[in-house]
Amino acid sequence: MIKDNAGELMMIDGETIVIKDGKPYETEGIKIYEVVRVIGGKPLFLKEHIERLENSFKVLNMGVPQKIKNLGHEIHEFVRQARIVNGNVKIICDGIGGADNRTIIYETVSRYPDRTLYEKGVAVVTLEKSRTSPGAKTMEDDLRMHADNKKKEKNAYEVILVDGQGNMTEGSRSNIFFFKDGILHTAPLDKVLPGITRMKVFEFCAKKGIEVKVHPIKRNELANFDGAFLTGTSINMLPVKSIDGIVYPVSGFAVELPAQFEKHMIVDVLNA
Ligand code: PDD
Repeated sequence: MIKDNAGELMMIDGETIVIKDGKPYETEGIKIYEVVRVIGGKPLFLKEHIERLENSFKVLNMGVPQKIKNLGHEIHEFVRQARIVNGNVKIICDGIGGADNRTIIYETVSRYPDRTLYEKGVAVVTLEKSRTSPGAKTMEDDLRMHADNKKKEKNAYEVILVDGQGNMTEGSRSNIFFFKDGILHTAPLDKVLPGITRMKVFEFCAKKGIEVKVHPIKRNELANFDGAFLTGTSINMLPVKSIDGIVYPVSGFAVELPAQFEKHMIVDVLNA
């Protein structure tokens, strides 16, 4: 069910409709999705998002529907029709693998962190659960519900998933990087969603000469790190101030790197 729509329009397989009386829309079967940020009326990293959407089908061993070929054009058209200047657009492919598969585009409620969270960092907690196919961006309502409940219960900003081997993998809606002595550490791609922001962090670090080590990270290693960052479409790079009560100082590198990354992203966006 679609309950997070922020606007009055929705595009289904290229056709724009008006959402009547805020009526929630039912979605069917397995759902693959993307969230694309729009800044100044421009959808960001659209090529990367469409490639990841196609890859989600491949990870699930499903054929990529022909209609995805028009998606870039449809997203641009939807952003224009819905007059979105700054916000987030969600694309859901539902009923996949069946004859009734659809591609649905709408503006979704966007939550961008307050400035103070970039200065003070956010509290996160762990949850012993994994997404079924980490490489695919699928909707897992049950996992989302558990994550949202835990966030509420612990008053945390995000939940970090811990797999059956005790590895910290990714956030419920973000990727996570740890750091120690100026070197970043993050989980390998077989355990996480290939985040677009994660990829941009790699590009940024390569440019800045900052080393990023990719390896499984155990929960019992948390106290060895100097700090951590969450990354994602709406949050960019956000410092973490604590994980399960283990406190990280949020100063110096922990605040400066996200600020530099934000500048790098703005330049990237302007040049795109
Ligand atoms: N979530 N890991 C998971 C499980 C995610 O759901 C997301 C994104 C990410 C970060 O990916 P990206 O940098 O491409 O946003 C990692 C989106 C934003 C969401 O569900 O709203």
